[in-house]
Amino acid sequence: MGEIVLNNVVKQFGKLKVVDNVNLQVRDGEFVVFVGPSGCGKSTLLRLITGLEELSGGQVIIDGRDVSYDKPSSRGLAMVFQSYALFPHISVRDNIGFGLRIAGEPKAEIQKKVETAARTLGMQDLLDRKPRELSGGEQQRVAIGRAIVRSPTAFLFDEPLSNLDAALRVQMRIELIRLHEALKTTMVYVTHDQVEAMTMADRIVVLQAGRVEQLDTPVNLYDHPVNKFVAGFIGSPKMNFVDASPGPDGQVKLSDGALISLPGLLHDDMTPGMTLGIRPEHLRYSHNQGDWKGTILVEEQLGSDAFLYVDVPNVGMITVRAVGERNHHSGETIYLSLPGELCHLFDDDDKRIETRAELREAVEA
Ligand SMILES: Nc1ncnc2c1ncn2[C@@H]1O[C@H](COP(=O)(O)OP(=O)(O)O)[C@@H](O)[C@H]1O
Ligand SMILES: [Mg+2]
Repeated sequence: MGEIVLNNVVKQFGKLKVVDNVNLQVRDGEFVVFVGPSGCGKSTLLRLITGLEELSGGQVIIDGRDVSYDKPSSRGLAMVFQSYALFPHISVRDNIGFGLRIAGEPKAEIQKKVETAARTLGMQDLLDRKPRELSGGEQQRVAIGRAIVRSPTAFLFDEPLSNLDAALRVQMRIELIRLHEALKTTMVYVTHDQVEAMTMADRIVVLQAGRVEQLDTPVNLYDHPVNKFVAGFIGSPKMNFVDASPGPDGQVKLSDGALISLPGLLHDDMTPGMTLGIRPEHLRYSHNQGDWKGTILVEEQLGSDAFLYVDVPNVGMITVRAVGERNHHSGETIYLSLPGELCHLFDDDDKRIETRAELREAVEA
């Protein structure tokens, strides 16, 4: 079992409230990622769950038991940090088994658990090496092994891959996903990297300034961000935002005067001072017609994708994803169109305006 419930969790450092009334439930066996910009309170929230930090208010419930005032060691959780903190002078085997030895487990038992963990992590051959004889990724695996042998009710990870180079991060990401599938143990994973969040999580908690902005599956967060913050944070390159206002006939009027129809949007649902959002891959581009006429300022060619940074008069810089396109160049004129059904709309308070079509979908789902 490994269900974690947070009820009205608050953490203050002096007058500074860094975790502000957080309520959430991590289901048994789930992989939940806390994501948000640096300083938003992710690590603090994780440390409150483990008990390394004391609550200023609220409760932490693990498997139905209130552990709010329990010592970290009696909460049954295992934490893996960005810095591996391995003992340099002892072998991988002894590093992985260290906690068990301190707990006084019999030698044979430790041996068995270390071997099993090493097999799970594919590092049986490394057990007799010293940490300095390992790569960064292998060291991180030892740190994870140290957590596995304790058979925790849940694993808590705080940016465990941040020290690794990009290629290794991708590899470790996949290994962690497979580890979760093998162990089926609850994992709570903190990162500032929305790509890690999107690729690894069953559900993502988006945090800003100590508050939960949205908790949902990666796809729902991407398709239905509840506000402009989430819309801008999830997705790379970022969603484009354009100032908008209510136009005639239930249409949305953009800052340059262009009119866009969002299916199922009622005039009464609109507010003055809205923002229209559209993701780079949802813009259509053409050489001769569209809602906008702009100039390509920069082309970022990635091989598989090209990102075009287009200056649209009275709108600003717009990012367009052109899959597989090779034939664009800076200075070129390009026409862009915004399919209404793929646009997002946010009110003057940056909250999502649900169209009637979306509300119907939600009811039917
Ligand atoms: N021990 C502390 N004393 C005072 N402020 C702290 C302490 N720990 C963290 N903070 C502050 O709390 C906020 C959240 O920090 P943290 O949880 O580490 O953010 P994140 O992990 O999302 O980057 C930051 O503004 C940080 O400066
Ligand atoms: Mg942190």
